[in-house]
Amino acid sequence: MVISLTGFMGCGKSSVGRRLSELLCCPFMDLDEVIEKKTGRSIPAIFAEEGEDVFRKIEAKTLSDILYEADRADSPEGNEITVLSLGGGTVVRKECSEMVHSHTICIYLRASVDTLIRHLEGETHGRPMLEGNIRERITGLMSQRASIYESTAHKIIDTDGKTVEEVADNILAIFEP
Ligand code: S3P
Repeated sequence: MVISLTGFMGCGKSSVGRRLSELLCCPFMDLDEVIEKKTGRSIPAIFAEEGEDVFRKIEAKTLSDILYEADRADSPEGNEITVLSLGGGTVVRKECSEMVHSHTICIYLRASVDTLIRHLEGETHGRPMLEGNIRERITGLMSQRASIYESTAHKIIDTDGKTVEEVADNILAIFEP
């Protein structure tokens, strides 16, 4: 089983994912990191050299490979867990949101624009989608993406005012009987 984390850049997918995998004693994967390892290039370099479209294709193929491998490795009891942090734009592509919805238990880490700005201020250099006025970029992208995050996810966790530990605990609680 793959537990995937979706949500806007800066919502805490990677830090929460890492903490959740520690609590569950299971492997953690970060889709952006897998892409960087596989291509030998940073995400901003892929955007700069080849553009967003090529990045999205690489992202979709990498996601599909990860989920294929996870399905293949799944035991009949289905009790092997992997935590996977997606990129903030992964589920915008329909084929990716369908893959994520049907092959993972997807959690949307929902955060307000103010929280996202607080987390992202001074952290935008490695994030090509946030070039320009950060509030305008986040508001614009969120208006396109919010409903996609919501419909892709099986569960939404509101993260405003919560620590990484609290969000990870909220996710664990979903899986407790
Ligand atoms: C993107 C989010 C980034 C990364 C790329 C594009 C987006 O991931 O995949 O820069 O379109 O929102 P994080 O959400 O992990 O920063």
